[in-house]
Amino acid sequence: MDVISVIRTKRDKGELSPEQIDWVIDAYTRGAVADEQMSALAMAILLNGMNRDEIARWTAAMIASGERMDFSSLSRPTADKHSTGGVGDKITLPLAPLVAACGAAVPQLSGRGLGHTGGTLDKLESIPGWRALLSNEEMLHVLDTTGAVICAAGDGLAPADKKLYALRDVTGTVEAIPLIASSIMSKKIAEGTGSLVLDVKVGTGAFMKSIEDARELASTMVQLGTDSGVKTVALLTDMSTPLGLTAGNALEVRESVEVLAGGGPADVVELTIALAREMLDAAGIKDADPAKALADGSAMDVWRRMIAAQGGDPDATLPVAREQHVVTAPSSGVLTRLDAYDIGIAAWRLGAGRARKEDPVQAGAGVELHAKPGDTITAGQPLLTLHTDTPEKFDYALTSLENAWDVAPTGTSFEASPIVLD
Ligand code: URA
Repeated sequence: MDVISVIRTKRDKGELSPEQIDWVIDAYTRGAVADEQMSALAMAILLNGMNRDEIARWTAAMIASGERMDFSSLSRPTADKHSTGGVGDKITLPLAPLVAACGAAVPQLSGRGLGHTGGTLDKLESIPGWRALLSNEEMLHVLDTTGAVICAAGDGLAPADKKLYALRDVTGTVEAIPLIASSIMSKKIAEGTGSLVLDVKVGTGAFMKSIEDARELASTMVQLGTDSGVKTVALLTDMSTPLGLTAGNALEVRESVEVLAGGGPADVVELTIALAREMLDAAGIKDADPAKALADGSAMDVWRRMIAAQGGDPDATLPVAREQHVVTAPSSGVLTRLDAYDIGIAAWRLGAGRARKEDPVQAGAGVELHAKPGDTITAGQPLLTLHTDTPEKFDYALTSLENAWDVAPTGTSFEASPIVLD
């Protein structure tokens, strides 16, 4: 087998054979196929697509590139959630302890932010002492003793994806449905969860801008999971407006703790409970009430134990950025749009995200929202507060906010898009 014939097959809109797929994934993982060759193949896949058989084989080959985890020793059913990423998407933080409080074991392998979308691990690392890197034994121990664990995927899990994802990120080949579906599902299937709920985001702040693309991605992933024996369901959810009132690491942890304490913004609470219900249903747990577990403090108890088990101090003061800048409303009326992508870019520029994988993030940086679409606002009132340790970034962040909102005359009727679209 030679890599040039594999690239040519896809370049010329052909179907890759199972042997070609197995060979190229294995050879790339071993270093026998060079990055420039794999990036040519990834671009050919982005431009010409793959059919479902090719995607299934590609996913299986990525799973086979590494180890598989096994949770069969646990007494509870396992349930995991994966979001395709968005702005202000802190849902994993309250959701994992909530679902654990309702009786499931939640092994939540999470990622770091890149570009305008935040990453769960970056958020949790703003809690003093908290560790994302656990050995497989430590992960199982935290899961067994607290019911939930949120940590980084070990190096042994789908190493082909780790290498390929980093390459796609710098070669403009992230936004390909076959590559996104196989990347996400290879990690989830190798992780060994019994059930999986996918939160596929749609809108300006998401990878998938149209509902048709989001539906295609969701159905591809559901089929991959189901064919591998993982009970998999997907929700399509709105990402045209940031979730909640914060985008940024420590800011989002603070808001998640408010949700766990029985408060927090209505959209974050609604989506957390909707996803919890789907996870519990997929795990076969019928009589739990996630709204009650939020209200009675049992989800908060799991959160505190989970954070402490990973070295974090749940009572520690969270970092606050050194400088703040308030953006005021330019006119009075009804706020009809607050763009998730623009807010995400601003948070990223303020230091909440990274431009390259190795960059550090600022724990306190980000954007706080003082109004959401549908609210009536008055000229001069605070609309956003920008937070950063590097105030020279304010101007740069402000340029991304120039077209970030629309205000309609007072009294204009406004119907908010539902959070769960399908
Ligand atoms: N998240 C992943 O894990 N992989 C992708 O390709 C995109 C988002």
